[in-house]
Amino acid sequence: MSTPHVPFGTATRPADWWRTAVVYQVYPRSFADSDGDGVGDLPGITAHLEHLERLGVDVLWLSPVYRSPMDDNGYDISDYQDVDPVFGTLADLDELITGCHARGIRLVMDLVVNHTSDEHPWFVESRDPTSPKRDWYWWRPPRPGHAPGTPGAEPTNWESVFSGPAWELDEATGEYYLHLFSRKQPDLNWENPDVRRAVYAMMRWWVDRGVDGFRMDVIDLISRDPRLPDGVVPPGGHYGPSHAAVLNGPRLEEYLAEMNREVGLGAGHLLTVGEMPGSTIELARRVTDPARRELDMVFTFQHVDLDVRPGGAKWDTVPVPLPALKATLAAWQEGLADVGWNSLYWNNHDQPRAVTRFGDDSPEHRVSSAKTLGTVLHLHRGTPYVYQGEELGMTNASFTSIDDYRDIESIRFHAEATAAGVPEETVLRALALKGRDNARTPMQWDAGPNAGFTTGVPWLAVNANHDSINAAAAEADPASVFNHYRALIALRHEHPLVVDGRFELLLPDHPQLWVFTRSAAGRALVVLANCSSQPAPVDAGALPLLDGSTVLLATHPGRDGLDLLPWESRVVELLSRP
Ligand code: NOJ
Repeated sequence: MSTPHVPFGTATRPADWWRTAVVYQVYPRSFADSDGDGVGDLPGITAHLEHLERLGVDVLWLSPVYRSPMDDNGYDISDYQDVDPVFGTLADLDELITGCHARGIRLVMDLVVNHTSDEHPWFVESRDPTSPKRDWYWWRPPRPGHAPGTPGAEPTNWESVFSGPAWELDEATGEYYLHLFSRKQPDLNWENPDVRRAVYAMMRWWVDRGVDGFRMDVIDLISRDPRLPDGVVPPGGHYGPSHAAVLNGPRLEEYLAEMNREVGLGAGHLLTVGEMPGSTIELARRVTDPARRELDMVFTFQHVDLDVRPGGAKWDTVPVPLPALKATLAAWQEGLADVGWNSLYWNNHDQPRAVTRFGDDSPEHRVSSAKTLGTVLHLHRGTPYVYQGEELGMTNASFTSIDDYRDIESIRFHAEATAAGVPEETVLRALALKGRDNARTPMQWDAGPNAGFTTGVPWLAVNANHDSINAAAAEADPASVFNHYRALIALRHEHPLVVDGRFELLLPDHPQLWVFTRSAAGRALVVLANCSSQPAPVDAGALPLLDGSTVLLATHPGRDGLDLLPWESRVVELLSRP
């Protein structure tokens, strides 16, 4: 008798499967274009699944492909239950899900429910003050004593993440609506139970379609004090002055638990990861405590915001000393050691390329620094996320003109800053460091025209370095960043200490070395990494005994002295813990 076929997915999702998993993020617009219109699409992703399979990842997180006017590249959704024609059709998405499952890869959707597009039928209806949907969004009269549209008449002092006030006046009614992002992204009112019911119903529809989880966009913004108080200037942080008033609101955890229950997220063993720019360790520990059934893990911003000058905006940067970076990651490791779970990331579609930002993207050090950054991150405890192209050591874009940029945040910052008198070269320098398009240049598949991304004109310029940095070359080269990531992912799958070993940071103040152990039951791994472009001698006395140990993975195989080369790193297994 033949064994009945059990589809990979719902029926085969074991509890906590995501603890041993590695997630790969695809930004569809920039991954692979199958029809020559210059924009990546779903059939393009399906055609490249072999790349993910070779890399060995367990999950594909798909950035939004829903119907959208594309004001914010799909993070402004006008229909949650359809695919935008630029990306393909629902049938293409079903094919991608099936293609992933056939390869043992699970698929996680992006869930953007803090806001919709202003073209979503809910918002269109809500524009009518007599409509039952009026209260689905945050409509407010002008500040008392102010005429609509006059300076300072906005109901609160909140600012949009994309510059300017977070309120847009509707001339027809004289009322304002709230948009923490662009004016085409009105915020949903989660206080209204009908909004929550509609969101959960939509999520169940996706679960029934076969998806394996959700990455939740800015989920820590969904609850706020309904009195909408003015914001107070915080000492620093990602969202600037007024956003302290909207992060981690009073009902956040209630909503997360309700969503989990109503959609059956925990019961179905779906992966849930919340993007939480404002989260603290204490909050993350509560939210990811399995007993509370809220989320599996959150994306913290603390390590990627270290380069923001206290009190400044994301563009106002300061150098990040290695001890500060180590300490931030270590604090999250310790804080979530016995309860909760970490996510681990350097990169995503909003962050500059890690090898440029934290490593050294010069020809001399690019490969070693990309490998070492990967090693350090993947050997922490948590679920690692790889952003498309990170496995190739892709670099920042090096754009030199504002005309090269497509991202709404970058374009608005440029307009606002230059209008305020900031010299254009200062603005362009900031954009070259931190602009989101650095991460969004097309995936570099080969050394051919447009890096094999499209046969048309790419929506955003391809990086000229694709002649040497590309997937075809990397897959063929045993010493490539790609093959190093492959080995790192395999190590996590094979070695229980990588998943569960207790984390301990050594030499916390060392300015070049990142050294830590992962240990359990008398066994230990030591990670030894030189995170600098200068040689670093290691003081053997400061380390656990490395005699009789085995090197599991190294950037420079065959070397075993303790004088580390620039960006050299090793993962060493100690046969008995001293
Ligand atoms: C976070 C997303 O990652 C980003 O790309 C988007 O612009 C904002 N949320 C608004 O949805």
